Amino acid sequence: MHPLQHLLENNMRWASGQTADDPHYFQRLSTQQNPDYLWIGCADSRVPANEIIGLDPGEVFVHRNVGNVVVHTDMNCLSVIHYAVEILKVKHIIVCGHYGCGGVQAAMENRQHGLIDNWLRHIKDVYYKHQLDVDGIDDVAHRRERVCELNVVEQVANVCYTTIVQNAWLRGQPLAVHGWVYGLRDGLINDLGITIDDPEKIAPTYRMADLP
Ligand code: CO
Repeated sequence: MHPLQHLLENNMRWASGQTADDPHYFQRLSTQQNPDYLWIGCADSRVPANEIIGLDPGEVFVHRNVGNVVVHTDMNCLSVIHYAVEILKVKHIIVCGHYGCGGVQAAMENRQHGLIDNWLRHIKDVYYKHQLDVDGIDDVAHRRERVCELNVVEQVANVCYTTIVQNAWLRGQPLAVHGWVYGLRDGLINDLGITIDDPEKIAPTYRMADLP
């Protein structure tokens, strides 16, 4: 038997379930996606974007990587943001980290984990930037939780610093960038309340004054 037979069976069941209530479901989705949201989240298998926010296929555009990091030279992430903003015209970009993130924990340690340490360096930089505050927290679990939050704050800023988002604002396109942290223990999202929808809300050094 095919080792993935159960997955293929799940798929057949799912596909027929979708069309049971709505016979044109796939026909409609195959010709157009119209999401209002771009989700940038962690690759962690316990943080599936659609399920957490109760959205169907076609309703949220998704990019995930280890530690939900937005790096300004990462063509993969930039291409996703570009497509989401300029073609799909999403109205919201959500950076969603999660408590208990292994990437964040690894970034706070001094031992080697292999190649991934070079990626996690971006999170280590966030930790280092706030190290005095973070290390002042007594409980180690709370310290990690705080870095999960600070990492999201940093990545929200990184999204806003991209030429893609700034050009959207300069064109007058409505676009808000949000920072959330998901809790693995209770399934609930903590909205960090750091929404940015205007270049006036980012540091002047990173602000673009005009369209190219
Ligand atoms: Co994670």
